[in-house]
Amino acid sequence: MPTIIAIDGPSASGKGTIARKLAAHFGFAHLDTGLLYRAVGLTVLRSGGDSSDAVLAEKAALALDPVKATSLADDADLRSDEASVAASKVAVVPAVRAALLKFQQDFCAAPPESKRGAVLDGRDIGTIIAPKAQVKIFVTASPEARADRRFKELQARSQRTTYADVLADMKERDARDATRALAPTKPAPDAVILDTTTLNAEQAFAEAVRIAEEKIAR
Ligand code: CDP
Repeated sequence: MPTIIAIDGPSASGKGTIARKLAAHFGFAHLDTGLLYRAVGLTVLRSGGDSSDAVLAEKAALALDPVKATSLADDADLRSDEASVAASKVAVVPAVRAALLKFQQDFCAAPPESKRGAVLDGRDIGTIIAPKAQVKIFVTASPEARADRRFKELQARSQRTTYADVLADMKERDARDATRALAPTKPAPDAVILDTTTLNAEQAFAEAVRIAEEKIAR
């Protein structure tokens, strides 16, 4: 059975960077599950539709090529703010989540390139996708620290925005993700909470390695 590391948490908590580095550290496959929801949201927007339209969202999820979507980690359109908002709107639709479930569970059962394990990051990995994961880490940070990181990221990409707008958008998306009926962002009962508010990327990664090694060694 492959070893599964589940990394969940709200946006800009640092979970993506931690997951990618953990995968490299352990020689495991990495799946950024947010890319699936981003790709579905973007498909709806590009068809001229409204991302709150459940019928269009389900159609886009069923037609999605998940391997292609998750290979586009650096795609500027998928990483855009419009795609983030659209992703969190399609992510409330139960039929969308159902359509994306099998790909994620298959990834855990048989990680690509016959790797011995997989690191998945998202919102519901430890609770729904891989409830039996050997390692579960819920990465979080204060809304202000997260908005500050996202603002700097957007500035580095020359996207025009203000800190206040980024913080407001983030709070709105957090609320939608945390209060939805299905698979809300919340730590699994057996997850370790990693608060990165006062940690830099290196310190957060070191702490995640420590948590993972302790669980895997058992
Ligand atoms: O990087 P960031 O945390 O900002 O976003 P992301 O992880 O790419 O996720 C984008 C959106 O997809 C989130 O706001 C969630 O609404 C949704 N999502 C989800 O519902 N379940 C997941 N496993 C991953 C993402």
